[in-house]
Amino acid sequence: MSAAGGRRSRPPAGGAKAWHGRLAGRTAPGLEAYSHSLDQDLQYWREDLAGSRAHARMLRTIGILSPAELLSIEQGLTRIAAELEASRFPFVTGDEDIHMAVERRLVELAGAAGAKLHTARSRNDQVALDLRLFTRRAQVDLVAGIAEVQQVLVRRSREHRQALLPGYTHLQRAQPTTLAHHLLAHVEMLQRDCDRLLDAHRRTDASPLGAGALAGSSLPIDRDQVARALGFTQIAANSLDAVADRDFALETLFACVLVAQHGSRLAEEMVIWASAEFGFVDLPDAWATGSSLMPQKKNPDVFELLRARAGRVLGDLVAACTILKALPLAYNRDLQEATPPLLDGVRVTAAGLAMLSAVMAAIRFDTERMAEAALDPQLLATDVAEHLVRKGVPFREAHTIVGRAVRAALRRGVTLADLEPSTWQRIHPAAGADVLQLFDARGALRRRELPGGPGPRTVGRALQRAELLIRRNRRQVELLRARLP
Ligand code: ARG
Repeated sequence: MSAAGGRRSRPPAGGAKAWHGRLAGRTAPGLEAYSHSLDQDLQYWREDLAGSRAHARMLRTIGILSPAELLSIEQGLTRIAAELEASRFPFVTGDEDIHMAVERRLVELAGAAGAKLHTARSRNDQVALDLRLFTRRAQVDLVAGIAEVQQVLVRRSREHRQALLPGYTHLQRAQPTTLAHHLLAHVEMLQRDCDRLLDAHRRTDASPLGAGALAGSSLPIDRDQVARALGFTQIAANSLDAVADRDFALETLFACVLVAQHGSRLAEEMVIWASAEFGFVDLPDAWATGSSLMPQKKNPDVFELLRARAGRVLGDLVAACTILKALPLAYNRDLQEATPPLLDGVRVTAAGLAMLSAVMAAIRFDTERMAEAALDPQLLATDVAEHLVRKGVPFREAHTIVGRAVRAALRRGVTLADLEPSTWQRIHPAAGADVLQLFDARGALRRRELPGGPGPRTVGRALQRAELLIRRNRRQVELLRARLP
């Protein structure tokens, strides 16, 4: 991250600092550029201004500000918002962070009234507030992004309700399933991500304002009023914890890691499925990339990037956790360094979700190729063993019997379905001609109407459940968005 952002105008050297009463002279060359946080702060200036507005109104309520002072502060903040929005805010050297920059500008615009805004407030509780507000929004936006991907997967599942698919373990064909059942597995993974984000949201939803630097204020401030104005349902219970805590950031990053990881698993499957060896999917040209050298190539780079960026988000989590480790209470400047990983992790995860819903909506499934692979009779070996179990053969024995049959078939270069009834009989008396009727993948699915299974009626119910979950996720998004300032 570059030290001094290019969008700021070069200031007159050495603007007076908030602490010039205590610290004499100029800051050492290089220290300001090394230590400021403006680049990251510019991603949550709106939250910072919302916090200032709520704080100012509370100062008015308790009589620290007159109505006229509140008015000039509010007008100043409105002007500052317009300047930041238009990237025309006049930063100066010595603006160590967005909090100091806004306060300095407010004093320029509103004079003495502006100088009262920082009453009973510290940048420590201010940045904690900004990050909690930013994180609340990010959590909600991520849930919305996830619901979008879920919706696409459910739609694709409905389109291909009947499509057979071989299920894999160890990337070896295992048992028959359906494309819908497979895609719905991803919907479940994503649902846990929504739940995790919403759960993290409950703990993010506590206002730190009023904690001051670490021990609050001797002035009669009203923390509840400020919290309510900013859409928090609680206030942080301990002032030291309020300024030192970044659990909400770590939890959110962890939730992002799992979202990204889930995306990477789906992406990896699409990379494999897009290979000529599988041929289960085909990317429309608009979503594929070519080779600068090999004219025939059509590459799934988008999925490879999704796969890789899960690693990046994990890096963000590890960085943030490592920075927080062993920090003594309360605020330490180290906390500033935990912010870029939060911003990066959230941004990369959200961008990945947007890509995933777009590309999964566009991808073409070759359901004939899938069905061809799913009709491999070997996939029904377990069904034969279970058929023997129904006749009273202990499962372990049945497993051995069918294993022998598979070996016999392989020796002859045929499939399990090609073995004569007499061969089955020779292997075990319980296995007769009735074994042959088992070699029907659709029949195998119909035999699997257990809860959570790939049976067609069960998958029908699973689709309804998924749609209900998506509706619920979206309702949560609406409710929580309405509470954001
Ligand atoms: N830029 C700081 C941060 O992001 C704000 C708080 C600074 N507080 C302080 N006491 N230096 O954490």
